[in-house]
Amino acid sequence: MPGIVIVGTQWGDEAKGKITDLLAKDADCIVRYNGGANAGHTVVVEGKTYKFHLIPSGVLHGKRVYLGNGVVVDPEILLDELENLGREGFQPDLHISDRAHVVFSFHKLEDGLQERLKGSLRAGTTKRGIGPTYSDKAARFGIRIADLLDEETLKAKLDVLVDLKQKIINQVYGEDVKLDKKEILEEASRFGRAVSNYVCDVSAEINEALDKGETVIFEGAQGTLLDIDHGLYPYGTSSSTIAGGACIGAGVSPKRIDEIIGVMKAYTSRVGTGPLPTELKNSIGERIREVGKEYGTTTGRPRRVGWLDLVPVKYSIRLNSIDKLVITKLDVLSGLNPLKICIKYRCGNKIIDTMPADIRTFEKCEPIYEELEGWEANVNWERIVKGGYEALPEQAKEYIQRIEEHVKVPISIISVGPERRETIILDK
Ligand code: GDP
Ligand code: IMO
Ligand code: MG
Repeated sequence: MPGIVIVGTQWGDEAKGKITDLLAKDADCIVRYNGGANAGHTVVVEGKTYKFHLIPSGVLHGKRVYLGNGVVVDPEILLDELENLGREGFQPDLHISDRAHVVFSFHKLEDGLQERLKGSLRAGTTKRGIGPTYSDKAARFGIRIADLLDEETLKAKLDVLVDLKQKIINQVYGEDVKLDKKEILEEASRFGRAVSNYVCDVSAEINEALDKGETVIFEGAQGTLLDIDHGLYPYGTSSSTIAGGACIGAGVSPKRIDEIIGVMKAYTSRVGTGPLPTELKNSIGERIREVGKEYGTTTGRPRRVGWLDLVPVKYSIRLNSIDKLVITKLDVLSGLNPLKICIKYRCGNKIIDTMPADIRTFEKCEPIYEELEGWEANVNWERIVKGGYEALPEQAKEYIQRIEEHVKVPISIISVGPERRETIILDK
C-alpha cells in the first residue's frame, strides 16, 4: 500500500495527527499537502504532548517528512517548530518544496482586516494569513520558497507585492500601518538561508519513493467540510483539503494513491463560524467539550460541539472515496445516554441526505436523529485496549456498527484516548 492519504471527514480536528503518527511507524515518509500553520495536529506519546502546525506528524518516528507545493509556509512558525523539536532531541529529516508559497506578516495582518470587513460572513479564521497567501498565489503575486534563494527575483517580486499590500492596508482598510520593505526583504532572505538545505523538488522525491515501493503517507490538514470548493463556502479555509488535494499539493498523479483513510470524530466539533445542525448548546455540549478537551490546538478557542452528523461524513466519503474510517474520541461519549446520530436533514418540507451548496438552505436544515443506548461512564479503557474490539461495551459496538451500516464503509481503527497506545486496530 505505498500511497496512503489521511483525510479529515468533518470540520478538522478529527485527530489526524494522532492517526498519522500511529501509521507513520510503518511508513517511509510523510507529506503535508495543503494548508499551513492553521493546522494544529496533536500527538501524545507516553504522557508527552507534541503539537505540530507545519511539520508532518510522523516526524517523531524519525521518518522523512515533506512540505509539498500545496502548503503555505510561515517561516517564523516553521523555524520555531524545528527549534522546539531540536530541544526534544529530534532532528527532522525535512524536505520543503521549492514551489510552496511563503506566508508573510502582512498576510496575517490582512487576514484579520478581511475578517473585520466580512462581518457575519467571516469564517473565524486562525489569523495565520492563510486566505491572503492563497489569494496571492492564485493571482500570481505570491512568493515561493525557490524565490527566497534568489536575491534578485525576491527583491523584484517583493517590490511589487509590498507596494500592493501597502495600498490595501492604507487605502482599502484605512489602517495607519507602514510596511518596511527593507526589513521584509532581509527577513525573507534570512529565512531562505535558514531553510536552503531543506529545499528540493518534493514531487520528484515522492514519485521516486513511490517508484521504489516505499510507503508514503499524505497527511491532510483541516477537514472536508472546510475545503475551498466542497466545504461550506465561505465558512471554510482556502486550500483543497480533500484527498484529491494530495495529488495537487504534493505533485503526484491520482494513479499513485492506493488507499484513502478518513478520520472521523465520534461526535462533531467545529472551530469558527457557520451553521452546524447538530450543535449542542446545552449541558451535554459543555460536557463533551470538557471531557474531550475541545479547545483549538492552534488558537485555544473553545470548539463548538454536537452529536455525530453522518450527512457530512457521507458527503466526505463520496468526495474522498474513503476505503476505511477511523473513529476517534469514542471514550468522550462515555456516560451519555441516549446517544444521537444525525442521519438526514429536514429542510422545510423536504428530507435531504447531502450537503446543500447554499448556506441559507443549510441554515434551515434540522437534524433527523437516530437514538442509541449509551454505555456507562466508568470504563476501563486500558483493559479494553488490551482486550480489543470484543472487550468494548456492547453499546459502543452497537454505535460503531450502526455508523458502518449507515455509511457503508468499514471502521478499521478505534481511538479511545489521546495516547498512541490508546487505540484498537481492527483487521478490516
Ligand atoms: P487534528 O487537527 O485532526 O490532528 O486534531 P487535533 O490534534 O487538533 O485535536 C484532536 C485532540 O484530541 C488532540 O488534543 C488529541 O490529543 C486528542 N485525541 C486524539 N484522539 C483521541 C481519543 O481517542 N480520545 C481522546 N479523549 N482524545 C483524543
Ligand atoms: P486541523 O488541521 C479546525 C477553520 C477556522 C476557520 C476556517 C478558516 O488542525 O484540523 P483559516 O485560518 O484556514 O483561514 O480559517 O477554517 N480551520 C480549522 N478548523 N481544524 C483546522 O485544522 C483548521 N484550520 C482552519 O477555524 O473557521
Ligand atoms: Mg487540529
